[in-house]
Amino acid sequence: MLEIVTYGNEILNQKAQGVTDFGPEVSTLVAEMLEAMRIGKGIGLAAPQVASALRVFVTHVEEDKPRVFINPEIVLTSQEEIEFEEGCLSLPGLYLSLKRPESVRIQAWNEKGKPFSIEASGILARVMLHEYDHLEGVLFIDRLSPARRERALAHYRRLLRM
Ligand code: NI
Repeated sequence: MLEIVTYGNEILNQKAQGVTDFGPEVSTLVAEMLEAMRIGKGIGLAAPQVASALRVFVTHVEEDKPRVFINPEIVLTSQEEIEFEEGCLSLPGLYLSLKRPESVRIQAWNEKGKPFSIEASGILARVMLHEYDHLEGVLFIDRLSPARRERALAHYRRLLRM
């Protein structure tokens, strides 16, 4: 069972590396990530959150199937941005509203090495953008102004002590 890495672990700040071999190691990683996401009751999970520096993330939002994104590329984002509340399994208990593009198109490969493209809006777009950021070493708190980021971290530290 994969353990979820939390804030403070350096791997969360590092850019992940592209997958070059769609072999059993990647299938195993994907299967374990889907399981960790399910157990953690998350709607998305990126490989750095399970201490793997590969460009892989998974999503499972309500009324959608579980999805696997390997070597994802953002092809397009809408100019329109919306405020939406986000959480992250690596900062458990912290929920923040922030602005991101309303819709996104991502091109990626699935765990069988098959390329696909998906355009999403609403919550799925939000999760895809949040998880993609993890592959760039960016956390949702890093999207806040420095002052708001400090307040969010202070709140998170209080939550940890509770
Ligand atoms: Ni996250």
